[in-house]
Formats: sequence, C-alpha cells, structure tokens
Amino acid sequence: MRDDWVIAFTCLWMGCAAMNSAGQQEPALKDVFKKDFLMGAAINESHITESAGASCEVALIKKHFNTISPENVLKWESIHPAPDRYNFGPGDRYVDFGVKNGMFIIGHNLIWHLQTPAWVFQDEQGTPLNRDALLLRMHDHIFSVVSRYKGKIGGWDVVNEAVNEDGTLRPSPWLKIIGEDYVLKAFQFAHQADPNAQLYYNDFSLEDAPKRAGAIALIKKLQAQGAPLAGIGLQGHYRVDWPPLLDVDETIEAFARLGLKVMITELDVSVLPAVTSRLDAQVSQNYRLRAEDNPYTNGLPDAAQQALAARYAGLFKLFVKHRDQITRVTFWGVTDANSWLNDWPVRGRTDYPFLFDRQCRPKPAFQGVIAAGRK
Ligand code: GLA
Repeated sequence: MRDDWVIAFTCLWMGCAAMNSAGQQEPALKDVFKKDFLMGAAINESHITESAGASCEVALIKKHFNTISPENVLKWESIHPAPDRYNFGPGDRYVDFGVKNGMFIIGHNLIWHLQTPAWVFQDEQGTPLNRDALLLRMHDHIFSVVSRYKGKIGGWDVVNEAVNEDGTLRPSPWLKIIGEDYVLKAFQFAHQADPNAQLYYNDFSLEDAPKRAGAIALIKKLQAQGAPLAGIGLQGHYRVDWPPLLDVDETIEAFARLGLKVMITELDVSVLPAVTSRLDAQVSQNYRLRAEDNPYTNGLPDAAQQALAARYAGLFKLFVKHRDQITRVTFWGVTDANSWLNDWPVRGRTDYPFLFDRQCRPKPAFQGVIAAGRK
C-alpha cells in the first residue's frame, strides 16, 4: 500500500518516474549496463508521437533506454503500402524521436515474409514476378528506405527470419522467386544505400540446435561471398522455462565465433502456458481460448512473479558474462500493457513479459536485472 502511494504521488508530480519503497529513484537500465551494452526497447506510434495516453511509457523509454527499434512503422506494409506510394511520415517521426533523444536508432526490417503486401511479388495483373523484376523491386525499396534515413539509422535488420526450424531456408516468395542469393542481394543493396550502417541478420529460436546450424551455414556462405554483415540478432522471444541458459550461452558463443556482433533484439519472457510449439507469427488467430490458457487475468501471483525475476536475473548475468560479444539488448516493448504476447499466438490473454507492469511500475524482474548488472 505504501509503495502504491509513493508511486501515485511521484506519477502526479514527476510524470511517473518510478521510486522504490525507500523513496529513491530507480536506477536507469542504460546507466547500470553502460559499460556492457546498449539497452533498448521497441516503440510504437503512441510512443513516437508522445501521445497523452502513453506518457508514463514515454518517460520510461527516455529514462531507461539509449537505443530504439520500431515495432511496426518501418515494415514494408507500413512504409511502402502500394507500388508507387511510400508512407514515410511515421518512420520520419520515429527517427526524429531517436535523434532528439540521442539514441542509437535501429531500422527493422527490410526483407521479411510477413507484413509484406502480396503485391510485392506480383505484377499489375496479379501474375508472379520473375527473378529480375523482384530483384528490381527489392533494390528500389531498400534504396528508397535506407537512403532516406542514411546517417541517422545506425543499424538495419536487413533480412528477418529466413531460416526454418530444421535449418533449411524458409520457402518464402523471396526464396521461391529470386533463389538463395536473395539474402546476399539484400545485404549488398543495403550496403550500397548506406555504407556506414551496420547490417544484421535477425531471427528467433536460434537457441534450438538445428535452426542455429542452418543460420550458421547461411552466414558462413554470406561471409564467403563478401556480404557486408556486421551482426546477428537473436530475437529473444523467450519463456520462463525455455530456452535453457546453456543453450543461450552456446548460441551467443557460436555467432561471436563467426566474428559477428551479437544482439538480443526482441527480448520478452512469456509466463503463460504454451498453446503452440510454433513461434511463427502466422499461427492461427482463430484458436478458441480456454480458461487454463489465460490463468493470470487478475494479476501475477507472487510465485510466478519471482520465477520471472529469477529468469531475467539469469539471462542478464549471462549477457553480462558475454559483454565483450553482446553490443545491445532490446526489449520488444516497454510495459506489460503493450506486448504483442497479449494477442499472440492467441488473442485476448494477459501476459507479463517485461520489467514494468501495466501501470509503468518496476516489477521484481526489474530488480533482478539491476542486481545482475551490479557487479
Ligand atoms: C518478429 C518480428 C517483429 C515482431 C515480432 C512480434 O519477431 O521480427 O517485428 O513482429 O515478431 O511482434
């Protein structure tokens, strides 16, 4: 009760700067880890425009993070919705937000199989494009978007999620129409458009050995072909009980051995029961929710809260151990209220994946992370 009063008072007078029960300001994540790696969050349009309803989240972003990623505004369907129409407004505002706040700005993403309109792969009659026509379209998109933010966006996720669970290449329209070298081409185009931007390959579940082996094979091939690849993004969509820390450890080591910067790019830790083993955003949204799938609608019980805190502490101890290899840790959101996990893989659940609760208050997981950072 006392904590609630302190926080309510602080929110009123200081825009929700969180204080602990001793009335002290919470330390900023970016300060605690400043000698280790950048700390980031993916932000959405209400953050970018600093809308009134998002004021406490915006305060958290400014206080705790020194790098930002765009949750959606730079994805193909948002920034290039029709063949001859770009929608740069939201992207421009995102980049301005980062510049204004002195943050390292990430571009996410250029080439992906999701959130990419169907027209990208077809001509005006709806006939599938051939290799040359799709390469030209890829080139024009990458040049238009990367050039616009040249010198401002410091790192781009060039290709997102090209590898299947078994390590083979995902049979996306990019692969089917262009062939395996679509990945190389995307990196080459992005490098031509901004030679100073860091270019990354980004994917999920690389902690699973077969998928990791496939990504390593892909990257070795790209490196042999001279691709301008600076880093690997481990998305980090984790669960309290998956993946084992040992697998995260091995994964970081394996990619660092390839000479890549390693980044945790989309960190969140789901506490809800797994309703599917697939971690692909295409999973059906028609699943009928059962009560046992959504057990924490009235708050997270203390045992689960502590388990989440221990999980986060374990992850950050590991990240700090690899501080020479990890350059950035970015959460895929800010507070529990704005996580995609509340609606994925099924809609309408109440998840608790972050360090800040729905009222922007630091959770025990926040304290676990801070403790892991204080050596
Ligand atoms: C993937 C993508 C992100 C985002 C998340 C879920 O990990 O890379 O852009 O869509 O899924 O929200």
